[in-house]
Amino acid sequence: MMTMWDELHALQSGVADRRIQTLFDDPARFYAFSARFDGMLLDYSKTNIDDAIRAALIALAEAAGLPEARAAMFGGERINRTEGRAVLHTALRAPAGSVIEIGGENVMPEVEETRARMARFATTLRSGAFKAQGGRVTDVVNIGIGGSDLGPAMAVAALAPYHDGPRCHFVSNVDGAHIHDTLAGLNPETTVVIVASKTFATVETMTNAATARDWMAASVADPGAQFVALSSAEDRAAEFGIAPERVFGFADWVGGRYSVWGPIGLSLMIAIGPDEFSAFLDGAAAMDAHFRDAPPEENLPVLLALTGIWHRQICGYPSRAVLPYDQRLALLPAYLQQLEMESNGKRVAMDGADLTRPSGPIVWGAPGTNGQHAFYQLLHQGTDIVPCEFMIAAEGHEPSLAHHHALLVANCLAQSEALMKGRPLESARAIMAAKGVHGDEAEIQARHRVFPGNRPSTTLAYDRLTPRRLGQIIALYEHRVFVEGVILGINSFDQWGVELGKELATALGPVLSGDEDAEGKDGSTAGLVTFLRR
Ligand code: F6P
Repeated sequence: MMTMWDELHALQSGVADRRIQTLFDDPARFYAFSARFDGMLLDYSKTNIDDAIRAALIALAEAAGLPEARAAMFGGERINRTEGRAVLHTALRAPAGSVIEIGGENVMPEVEETRARMARFATTLRSGAFKAQGGRVTDVVNIGIGGSDLGPAMAVAALAPYHDGPRCHFVSNVDGAHIHDTLAGLNPETTVVIVASKTFATVETMTNAATARDWMAASVADPGAQFVALSSAEDRAAEFGIAPERVFGFADWVGGRYSVWGPIGLSLMIAIGPDEFSAFLDGAAAMDAHFRDAPPEENLPVLLALTGIWHRQICGYPSRAVLPYDQRLALLPAYLQQLEMESNGKRVAMDGADLTRPSGPIVWGAPGTNGQHAFYQLLHQGTDIVPCEFMIAAEGHEPSLAHHHALLVANCLAQSEALMKGRPLESARAIMAAKGVHGDEAEIQARHRVFPGNRPSTTLAYDRLTPRRLGQIIALYEHRVFVEGVILGINSFDQWGVELGKELATALGPVLSGDEDAEGKDGSTAGLVTFLRR
């Protein structure tokens, strides 16, 4: 019997040689293959998806049980089966007064109470009412890694025009260089350190937190009073010496990479203030409602996911590039790497059976226009096809620099146009002829100037990068990852693949310090230990 997957592969074979550009013979294509929500537009018309393919992709999602899975997630069911947990980051941004239950218990009163405590704390810090030993707090250092770092670090950078609180810094790497260089410019007497760790056991974070405490203890009489903890393990935070009034807890149903909406977002709230932080949450909540209610043909997360499934699982492209034409989104590719690759980089299905198709793609990228002068060469002329996901705002935050923004927009649109249209050999030959180059040399030179084109891209356009819009963008990607995971039949909410390296690193500690020998290690690891132990 032909499956939906077989049908999609058959459709793909039928259009494999079709030029995407020819689809624009239909003057309505842009409108038919783009979708709008609030101040955002998702254009996926520069892909090879047509009516039949879109219909088959939607049918695939429905056959995979997307409506039921979505209802189960929003309904607080324990869909993270391998960890026995519900997945309810959506509750962290739900409007006050919502009722969201796990096993019959409404989680919202606790969410709202924590939100209010965070707002009170952020306000005292921002107003100067909270006194560090040296008085008003000038700097906040968030120590965390993975989801306890990437979300707030990315969002704080993205919303720089809204900063009116203390300066925020982020330390994640266990490499001593990171904390050394960050603390070097700071005054411990006016600095607050936030230890952000869901488990409060991550070795990188706990090592950095201890180093920060020593740094502070050298000149601050009560360093613990300038420490804050964000964690699900409130007892461990207390053991570290942080008083309960500065511990902000969250439940186990908030995954690390989905945690920026609650306590892990405290540094963002301190930077932009509780009101703008609320706008950030409201944007995400609006995207949640859209994802829950909009039909698939108009549903941005569903459409973005289907485009992803088409490119990765059906066309077989191994990676996708995230290309924000927005310098303040410079950390978004790294954030999405964790969100997408930790969620959907899985090799077995929910029931433990081997996946019969590729897992989620490799996600990478950098802001435009910088990437254009670095790796776009491969995007245009390399032998692999990399679907590109462009992002661009209609306006920037610097009215006096509108000419910069015009150039930014022109570059963004030019890239997707160039990827699609390419440049045929005849045009390249004409260029050489116009330069007065003829004969064999002209042919060689012309061939280097050919762009094959027919390379797909999507563009997410939005009015302006406000807190609300950023909240929507992040929630859009979260739900896109969810939809792709449902279609693949995997658990997008565990991350067992990070464990083995952690275990081996722990075991290598005594080997590197010389307390144990390298017996049992492979030759390469033993050789490297010998070299590095010198
Ligand atoms: O090792 C992976 C991971 O568990 C991520 O999923 C998580 O975001 C990160 O480590 C940090 O974990 P924690 O917040 O518990 O320190």
